[in-house]
Amino acid sequence: MRARTAVIPAAGMGTRFLPATKAVPKELLPIIDTPALQLIIDEAAGAGFDHVVVVTSHAKPAIEAYFEPNPEVIAKLRSTGRGALADSLERTARDVRVTFAYQDEALGLGHAVGCARDAVGDEPFAVMLPDEIMGDSSLLAQMADVSEATGGSVVGLKHVPRDEVSSYGVIDPVGDLDEHGVVRVRTLVEKPAVDDAPSDLIIIGRYLLTPDVFDKIARVRPGAGGEIQLTDALRMQADEGPFHGVLRDVRRYDTGNPLGWLTAVVDLALDDPRIGDAFRDWLQHRL
Ligand code: UTP
Repeated sequence: MRARTAVIPAAGMGTRFLPATKAVPKELLPIIDTPALQLIIDEAAGAGFDHVVVVTSHAKPAIEAYFEPNPEVIAKLRSTGRGALADSLERTARDVRVTFAYQDEALGLGHAVGCARDAVGDEPFAVMLPDEIMGDSSLLAQMADVSEATGGSVVGLKHVPRDEVSSYGVIDPVGDLDEHGVVRVRTLVEKPAVDDAPSDLIIIGRYLLTPDVFDKIARVRPGAGGEIQLTDALRMQADEGPFHGVLRDVRRYDTGNPLGWLTAVVDLALDDPRIGDAFRDWLQHRL
């Protein structure tokens, strides 16, 4: 069965983006003029998903407010000749059904995914971290294909320099990547020492998971700070059945910290047909 639901965990505290995140959730910070969360939903829609579950917290009401219909703004845009913008505001609710699940204590990514259990049901589903933005939907679509073909979970992968592996979840691959960038995963190791790392392939913020992961999450023991790590549940899955990783040449930005966010905004602004030329001129002059 092909996954149709994408879970977007958005209940974290965003401490790396304080003080902005005191009032604005990290997931709503704009990439040019569009919240990061919207770009993630567009990526899911582009990969064929029709249901998005946003895991949020009651301390972040702005996330739900973003999805409220706004008839006054739409009417104003239409009456002032800005129908295309009005269309784009109305588009999300039409293309993708958005529902909410709640995690009121930030007890880690595994716990956040577990909070989406009822909303997902007994089906394969994607998990998309909203502080990683991809250039297009192709990685997620390929991961859904691989999961459908193998019947197991799939993680997105990226090569990093060896001396950086200790900051990430790292896979232990069975052999080499095939011509499509797919590799079977023996196991996963969270933040290994450089010398112990089984590869230089790290897990990025895209997952395609079979629903048995929910029982595994329920079995994970809390680690540092009481957090339930998703990687621990994935390791249980890899121990039991097929589990794959996909490496794909796709643009990717880490927008969860100020430097990464700025890099994404600058890079995407240079390509933006509305402002790219003017922005490039200004930047060249400035440099
Ligand atoms: P991060 O660790 O990047 O988010 O988690 P964070 O904890 O909000 O950020 P910092 O480190 O304090 O700056 C990746 C995604 O998972 C969500 C976050 O909202 C973010 O979008 N998350 C994380 C949850 O929903 N719940 C959690 O308990 C942890």
